[in-house]
Amino acid sequence: MDTTGIENLPRHVGVIMDGNGRWAKQQGLGRSAGHRAGTERLRGIIRTSSDLGVEVLSIFAFSTENWKRPQGEVDVLMGLLREFFSEELDALDENRVRIRILGALEDVSQGVRRILREAMERTAANTGLQLNIAFNYGSRSEAVRAARLLAAEVQAGRMTVDGIDEAALMQRLYTHDQPDVDFVIRTSGEMRLSNFLLLQCAYAEFYFTDTLWPDFSDEEYKQALLAYAARDRRYGGVK
Ligand code: FPP
Repeated sequence: MDTTGIENLPRHVGVIMDGNGRWAKQQGLGRSAGHRAGTERLRGIIRTSSDLGVEVLSIFAFSTENWKRPQGEVDVLMGLLREFFSEELDALDENRVRIRILGALEDVSQGVRRILREAMERTAANTGLQLNIAFNYGSRSEAVRAARLLAAEVQAGRMTVDGIDEAALMQRLYTHDQPDVDFVIRTSGEMRLSNFLLLQCAYAEFYFTDTLWPDFSDEEYKQALLAYAARDRRYGGVK
């Protein structure tokens, strides 16, 4: 499908990559194989987003709740993250992708933190696709962090209580200088947000598909973007 010239492309796409475990089961494989296949698909979706001219792609890689999974599975996910950056960082950088991690890095292991910081620092000046990786991320923790930042500023006398408005709050989120999420895709038939970018999704459009993440092709991604382009967004107003 040729999508050059898709009009009304979302500026900011959020993706909840769900269904790796079920995909693996269907194939008679272990859950790690599902996460590996899911990571491969992620590489493709990043490339396609970049080629199409999406400005910001936010992906949910690991939630604050995912620590509850069996330790073996957590280790597999951390391993895949390391592998992803060691294999992909050069190519992402060459492709001018700028990486930002959304999430509390102070709580993750030193090794993983070093890799994530390096990825952000190395790509900070890039001007292509903004790739947000939500890692150890949860919207409510992000809101608590923002509230604490604001409170500290009031306490230090740099801000007044009345000076706290929507813009001031949004400026203290990890996504502070980026447009709101326009379009959220969630695979595997689940229809919920799971604490993903709740404030940034205030006016987002949603696309739910039964396709399991490792099967979510570039073709289906483009179909989803076309479906978005046909939506009528009113932001609470009338047309
Ligand atoms: C959901 O599938 C997927 C996850 C919890 C992890 C998503 C992570 C990756 C695809 C790879 C790691 C990220 C990077 C940046 C390399 P599930 O396990 O909940 O599937 P199920 O609901 O079918 O069990």
